[in-house]
Amino acid sequence: MKTIGVLTSGGDSPGMNAAIRSVVRTALDKGLRVMGIQRGYSGLMNGEIFEMNRHSVSDIIHRGGTILRTARCEEFKTVEGRKKAANVLKVFGIDGLVVIGGDGSFTGARLLSELGVAAVGIPGTIDNDLSYTDYTLGFDTALNTVLDAINKLRDTSTSHERVSVVEVMGRNCGDIALYAGIAGGAESIIVPEKGYDIDELCKTILEGKLRGKMHNLIMLAEGVGGAESLAKKIEEVTGIEARATILGHIQRGGSPSAFDRVLAARLGARAVEVLLDGKTARVVGTKDGKIMDQDINEALSMERTFDEGLYDIARALSY
Ligand code: ADP
Ligand code: F6P
Repeated sequence: MKTIGVLTSGGDSPGMNAAIRSVVRTALDKGLRVMGIQRGYSGLMNGEIFEMNRHSVSDIIHRGGTILRTARCEEFKTVEGRKKAANVLKVFGIDGLVVIGGDGSFTGARLLSELGVAAVGIPGTIDNDLSYTDYTLGFDTALNTVLDAINKLRDTSTSHERVSVVEVMGRNCGDIALYAGIAGGAESIIVPEKGYDIDELCKTILEGKLRGKMHNLIMLAEGVGGAESLAKKIEEVTGIEARATILGHIQRGGSPSAFDRVLAARLGARAVEVLLDGKTARVVGTKDGKIMDQDINEALSMERTFDEGLYDIARALSY
């Protein structure tokens, strides 16, 4: 292993820059050459590749987004597209590839490794939807962004004695809603893993009002969706004013938290070590707080488990 490449792919997440920095500087420290690949798999296929040095990653540890840019690329889903990508890597003399992205990007890395490319994945997504790792990079920062929004919504909801329905991202995973709901003291948390019953929800809201609650905060995961119509329905059934807020892409930006920066540093370093050890088709992550690496096929086929214990705690604390 003499030269490695690094790219970011799929939805960006805060901490990707810190991970790029860690990959680049760890690799240089170990005597490797590092090539930055722009715009994910799309840039890889087009040869948008440049050599990186220690200075290339100066002043980015605190920045959201990704200096390498990111993309979603349909052509890479075809065998021809991946063959083209593998060939570009060969032409540029890249012996190992670090892919920072979510499960889609990992699937791409897995298929690329079947063509003989040494690939390792770093979990970069706000969704926290990869079962093999305790946390994905960017999840903690996104939670803090959501928490800040909830705190503000609580002020105005209390003044107006309203119900506030807050829809957050996460694709089919309810973790952002669950964790932010707990941290923000939400009255109800609606996630795709559990679903909800509208009558039960309205009953809970009315009971809260009778007990003297001044506001009612409902965290809604986008995997369930429909914030506007839910707010309308709540108003109809309970007679209490309700407003919907869809937080959207604000959750993907911003300066990464200390937690995400440290995680990025550790995951980036491990990814380089994995390649130097001659391993391929691996992903890095954390298990019980410790950095680990695992076979990419195994990691992608693990069934996601929802934290029922945390969900129960949220329910018990909510009234
Ligand atoms: P994320 O990595 O955040 O989950 P996507 O699911 O959009 O984001 O995937 C990012 C990119 O990874 C896609 O645009 C595509 O280039 C590649 N990818 C996703 N799924 C596959 C697949 N089944 N086969 C090959 N490449 C894939
Ligand atoms: O995977 C990250 C994510 O932000 C999801 O939470 C969301 O469903 C999706 O990406 C949004 O994608 P786009 O940036 O294409 O709107």
